[in-house]
Amino acid sequence: MDLTPLFRAVCFLILIRITEGGDKRPNIVFILADDFGWHDIGYHGSIVRSPYMDFLASEGVKLENYYVQPMCSPTRAQLMSGRYQIRYGLQHLVIQPDQRACLPPDEVTIAQKMKEAGYATHMVGKWHLGFYRKECLPINRGFDTFFGFLNCLIYHYTYDFGYWHTPESGNKTIMFGWDLFRNHDCVAKEHKGEYSTILFAEEAQRVIWNHDQETPMFLYLPFAAVHNPLDVPREYEAMYEGIIEDEQRRKKAAMVTCMDEAIWNITKALMDTGMWDNTVLIFSTDNGGATSVGGNNWPLRGGKRSMFEGGIRGVGFVTSPLLDEAVRGTENNQLIHVTDWFPTFVHLAEGNLSGTKPLDGFNQWDTISQGMFSPRNEFLINIDPMEICANPLATNQFRPNPYFDVCVRGGIRVGKWKLVTGVPRQMYWTAPPELGLENIRLSEGKDKMVWLFDVYEDPNELYDMSEEKPDIVMALLQKLGNYNATAVPVNYPAGDMWANPQLRKGHAWGPWVEKY
Ligand SMILES: *[C@@H]1O[C@H](CO)[C@@H](O)[C@H](O)[C@H]1NC(C)=O
Ligand SMILES: *[C@@H]1O[C@H](CO)[C@@H](O)[C@H](O)[C@H]1NC(C)=O
Ligand SMILES: *[C@@H]1O[C@H](CO)[C@@H](O)[C@H](O)[C@H]1NC(C)=O
Ligand SMILES: *[C@@H]1O[C@H](CO)[C@@H](O)[C@H](O)[C@H]1NC(C)=O
Repeated sequence: MDLTPLFRAVCFLILIRITEGGDKRPNIVFILADDFGWHDIGYHGSIVRSPYMDFLASEGVKLENYYVQPMCSPTRAQLMSGRYQIRYGLQHLVIQPDQRACLPPDEVTIAQKMKEAGYATHMVGKWHLGFYRKECLPINRGFDTFFGFLNCLIYHYTYDFGYWHTPESGNKTIMFGWDLFRNHDCVAKEHKGEYSTILFAEEAQRVIWNHDQETPMFLYLPFAAVHNPLDVPREYEAMYEGIIEDEQRRKKAAMVTCMDEAIWNITKALMDTGMWDNTVLIFSTDNGGATSVGGNNWPLRGGKRSMFEGGIRGVGFVTSPLLDEAVRGTENNQLIHVTDWFPTFVHLAEGNLSGTKPLDGFNQWDTISQGMFSPRNEFLINIDPMEICANPLATNQFRPNPYFDVCVRGGIRVGKWKLVTGVPRQMYWTAPPELGLENIRLSEGKDKMVWLFDVYEDPNELYDMSEEKPDIVMALLQKLGNYNATAVPVNYPAGDMWANPQLRKGHAWGPWVEKY
């Protein structure tokens, strides 16, 4: 009897079972570090020890031309929505604890899209996208589970948080309360004394171990590290004893090294559960390092809150066995922006964009996984009409012009050109204390309000070319003007005294407005 046809049939059936059995879409683990600077990671030549991140990045792709926002809330909002903040009023600073403001509920989040596509969605860590009413909470924005805190920072061992509320007339008062939640419940007291980085890493490992691998997983892990307060278990700081003299820098470095170990623990859990082979792990900072509290962005100009590269050029890498062999261990210099994660993840989830508003992001999966050209050639940095130049009556070569008032803080990148207007903040270069160099300051006119850089040739922004290339300035101002024409008004309301946690049961921060 000829067994070949039977053998073929059996093989065919087995093949069908393999291809049909189980969901092959990748797990996505997105790790967001807080206030993590360009010069705070080992592979950028820093004294800070990050051996595990260096290793993961060297197995994956380093994103060396990757941009975020200069502050927390806007970066998180862009990550969640795939859209610039001029679309939803978050142009000015961050969401304050006492403001009736949040990422508007009609912005569809990436967590909602992943959930809709059938992913299990979990969040562990910092939200900072508003909480004044229930609809704003992560648990109502697409996450199946939430373990973390709502405000801009957390006291790393006590899980409480204080904020100076400033009424329109009268004296400041402190608002103080607990800020650690499991879904809807405040669990701050139970975890008092545990260090936030270790706590969040343990929780992430628990999520991974409990995950039912029949469905793919989306895990969003925004650490409280390495944001101040500069607090860290002694053993990590001890590693830098006699190596970094500057106390703030030493503590910051220790916080990074602790986070580095936490990331390795999480990676190990993904390996031990067998999930790693089908996982895409992304690491990103939310903005540049805060140089006033030990962060560093050397040799880039400026830092957190600044429109210069030190504020917005982010540390980022992607590691995954799903990356093309040829790109592993390489640096990717294609232009990638934080809004790009939204369509990239929807692509990986084999979802669609129905129900979302027009995105500013591009699917970058082929750029990252195969080294293709980026579909992106420009991005808006920001337009903040609440930040205006010191002398609003001043005129200059570009003021007035028909497109955009250069007294207003604005910024745009097109190809190699970058234009900054108004008051960019932190104009100088902060040298890492451990290098023993002087900070660099240029003498620039007090009323200067236009900068043009070729960031390919001059990534450190030493040479302003606005006077040499006025035609390029005008072309970019016209583009900024076009963005401005589509912007919604800023939503930055005065603080509301009813936000005070002391007025609420359990003295925890949380929604204080029922309806609006
Ligand atoms: C988009 O995805 C959702 C959820 O998977 C699905 O219900 C819907 O039919 C899809 N829409 C289109 C146009 O494919
Ligand atoms: C603010 O505080 C000062 C000193 O404590 C007090 O004299 C003043 O009356 C206070 N003002 C208001 C508006 O409460
Ligand atoms: C990593 O895991 C080890 C072993 O469980 C643990 O002792 C350590 O505290 C963890 N580190 C962090 C930063 O989570
Ligand atoms: C942006 O557009 C608004 C509305 O058209 C206008 O009032 C404002 O001056 C523009 N901003 C700048 C910086 O040009």
